[in-house]
Amino acid sequence: MADAVFTGPEPDLADLLAARPAFAMHAQDGLCFESVPLNAIADAHGTPTWVYGAGSITARYNALQTAFAKQDLPIHIHYAVKANDHLAIIDLLRTLGAGADVVSIGEFMRAQRAGVASANIVYSGVGKSAAEIENALTAGIGQFNVESAEELEMLSALATRANTTANIVLRMNPDVDAGTHAKITTGLAENKFGIAAADIPAVYARAAALPGIDPQGIALHIGSQILSPAPYAQAYAKAAATITALRAHGHTVSVLDLGGGLGIGYQDETGINLDAFAAVVKREVGGLGVHLLLEPGRYLVGPAGLLLASVILQKQTSRRFVVLDAAMNDLIRPALYDSWHGIVPVDAALFQGAQTPADVVGPVCETADCFAKDRILPNLPQGTRVALLDAGAYSAVMSSSYNARPRAAAVLVANGNFSLITPRQKPEDLWADESIPS
Ligand code: LLP
Repeated sequence: MADAVFTGPEPDLADLLAARPAFAMHAQDGLCFESVPLNAIADAHGTPTWVYGAGSITARYNALQTAFAKQDLPIHIHYAVKANDHLAIIDLLRTLGAGADVVSIGEFMRAQRAGVASANIVYSGVGKSAAEIENALTAGIGQFNVESAEELEMLSALATRANTTANIVLRMNPDVDAGTHAKITTGLAENKFGIAAADIPAVYARAAALPGIDPQGIALHIGSQILSPAPYAQAYAKAAATITALRAHGHTVSVLDLGGGLGIGYQDETGINLDAFAAVVKREVGGLGVHLLLEPGRYLVGPAGLLLASVILQKQTSRRFVVLDAAMNDLIRPALYDSWHGIVPVDAALFQGAQTPADVVGPVCETADCFAKDRILPNLPQGTRVALLDAGAYSAVMSSSYNARPRAAAVLVANGNFSLITPRQKPEDLWADESIPS
């Protein structure tokens, strides 16, 4: 079930905080995140501002590692940089032990810039350009996740020309329904991703025969925001059968990249049960004797971030509108996927106030610029601050400057302090690279 199609009860403000231990409401300081009052951050840096918590990311990384340690199953985490590509976030995950999963040369260079060793980077994506491949090959990238027979030929030619060998795994499309939002499902035969399971043996044999290519295994990724281990079980069973068949043909298979997709709780769904997920991995592929990789993005950083915004005004027509200074150009997930994000007032007194339904919107000139419809919220006077929850993943990375709105600032909270990690963009930065031909 996706956040976008969730039909369960709406959690109230107290429920939202109870499910998120990094948050606490203090009578004087208001809403605190990892012990830092959000008002202090807004006072120092204004709004809208992204706020990320190093403690939350660390706890989530450790919880994932612990789930696999309990199964006695070594696993290597390659953080899916697309979820949040800020250097400070990649750097933090690197210090915790993660490698990186990238899908463009920009992400590859970001990961390198944040100190991730090239050998610890895997490169996924259905359309890597020749220039991107050459760049990654020269830098000594650890692994390419090859998504088609056509890409394999291209990679062989480029690696041979560069006088090097590319470590590759083939991304298999297992044709499994991950039960997630149609716009973020990737493992169905109709999706553009990967190579059909039935074609893997032939493409693997071709890879083994091609110069400049060292085939090492299989990868899959069936979708994002997956809340049940069941589709993973189906997909990994197919991967295990494929690996067994490849070995029967005399091929060496030493790597299985399990993909990402681990879902989190946005509304009142619970995130995927890590113990159950690790148990499925152990049961389906634990006996294959392969090196296991995992590519989570959202799970590690989603709940570890929020978007701090201020109320520009409340407007009453036949409906009650709360207009924020954040908009769809900052956080596009509700407009794009109908996704649900918790919205919590920062002021403790308001938090207790009487509540009525409101549409929470941004100032952008689009009806889609709506964060929440009929959300039960207290009176939120002009200047009041709110936190839009679970905005650590696929949020700042998907933002734009539509309506000539400068990009929001970003702050990292760590050990009870906060640091500015991206200054607010200035309007004149928006056209700094533009010119008018004479
Ligand atoms: N590996 C591959 C090959 C992927 O395509 C993705 C995500 C991941 C790993 C990480 O998936 P995660 O663990 O974060 O679910 N913008 C959408 C999500 C798009 C996900 C794309 N691929 C959203 O806001 O929900």
